[in-house]
Amino acid sequence: MNPFTVRYSSEHFCDREAEIKKLKANVTNELNTLIHSPRRLGKTALIYHLFHKLERGKKHETIFVDLFATTKMEDLIKELSEKILEKYHKKSFIEGVKSVLKGISTTISISQDGTPELSLQLTETNTVKTLNHLLKYLENRKKKVILAFDEFQEVVNYPEKAEAILRTAIQPLSNVIFLFSGSTNHLLQDMFLSPKRPFYQSTEVLVLGKIERKIYFHFIKTNFEKYSKNIETDAIDYILDFTECYTYYTQVITNQVYYQTNKTITAGEARQIINEYLETKKTDYQNLLNLLPENQKKLIISVANEEVVSKPTSMEFIMKHKLPSISSVAQAIKALAKKEILYKSPNGYTVYDLFFKRFLQRYYANNGR
Ligand SMILES: Nc1ncnc2c1ncn2[C@@H]1O[C@H](COP(=O)(O)OP(=O)(O)OP(=O)(O)O)[C@@H](O)[C@H]1O
Ligand SMILES: [Mg+2]
Repeated sequence: MNPFTVRYSSEHFCDREAEIKKLKANVTNELNTLIHSPRRLGKTALIYHLFHKLERGKKHETIFVDLFATTKMEDLIKELSEKILEKYHKKSFIEGVKSVLKGISTTISISQDGTPELSLQLTETNTVKTLNHLLKYLENRKKKVILAFDEFQEVVNYPEKAEAILRTAIQPLSNVIFLFSGSTNHLLQDMFLSPKRPFYQSTEVLVLGKIERKIYFHFIKTNFEKYSKNIETDAIDYILDFTECYTYYTQVITNQVYYQTNKTITAGEARQIINEYLETKKTDYQNLLNLLPENQKKLIISVANEEVVSKPTSMEFIMKHKLPSISSVAQAIKALAKKEILYKSPNGYTVYDLFFKRFLQRYYANNGR
């Protein structure tokens, strides 16, 4: 059993105590919360962990809806219906549909593997009706229901006026508490921070940061020891320097280091395992880099080498890295940020994917010159 996993596990979950406490307090006080952070820091896992704890407490019921693949209201409603049916009517799907979607026109088909599949005949007029119907079902549960919409920024792209529809449907509810989550970007921020938008100031906000280094250090050490392995202090420091305590990357690397050794791990061994792992990613990253136009390629290499760049259009940065004109750099920034290859942090621009950054630093050090 590898205690360092990239799938959520309640047993092998590191910290987030302050965040869980805050979210629990919001639930108790019936406040909706928006959770955001850069990608891969642990929003989804945090919600799973909160739900695990709430379900264990037996005072609440929890429903998790992932909106990642949704493109319209109908998809959201379908996802929500399926989650409700799965939770409350696992034994009899058809009975469940009758009870949850009473009065709503539906078709049930049987898929190839024999499982029933729901399709809803949604028209413009009954979309809102169906949504209200589902929420009413949750509103009438005896226990308080916590409903999470992960990747909530997707609703911005729906063709319907989804924000307004959802806000209106959510507002009158008193038995359902909402969690909205997504990665930090202008779509999500505009939604909750712009005074003209329906969700403006409607929620508490939790910005998820990195796990504290001291805590991650302890987590790694104790999890090695728990399974009768050892890791030297320098090795943990080497790993956390490499991953910058970024959750996903730390989990991936500790997972590798853990399973590839069965004795005491030294910093030298950790470095070797990390190098080998980076080698396995080399072809993909090389392809990604090769696909970029020349000005974007040069810029991302320069940013990787600088770690963080607060003023990429400054003469100093442009001269140092022999970049083309200001306008070409500005254009490259825009394009790379849109593709989420570049990330705009409060301190400046960085390469979004840490492994990609390490790849560039290794193979394109000093701007490839
Ligand atoms: N507290 C934690 N302890 C251990 N592993 C964690 C923890 N939080 C997250 N992880 C792991 O880190 C990775 C990233 O977490 P998660 O998918 O929750 O991030 P996210 O912020 O939702 O990312 P995205 O924005 O891409 O959806 C996952 O592999 C997850 O299992
Ligand atoms: Mg997520």
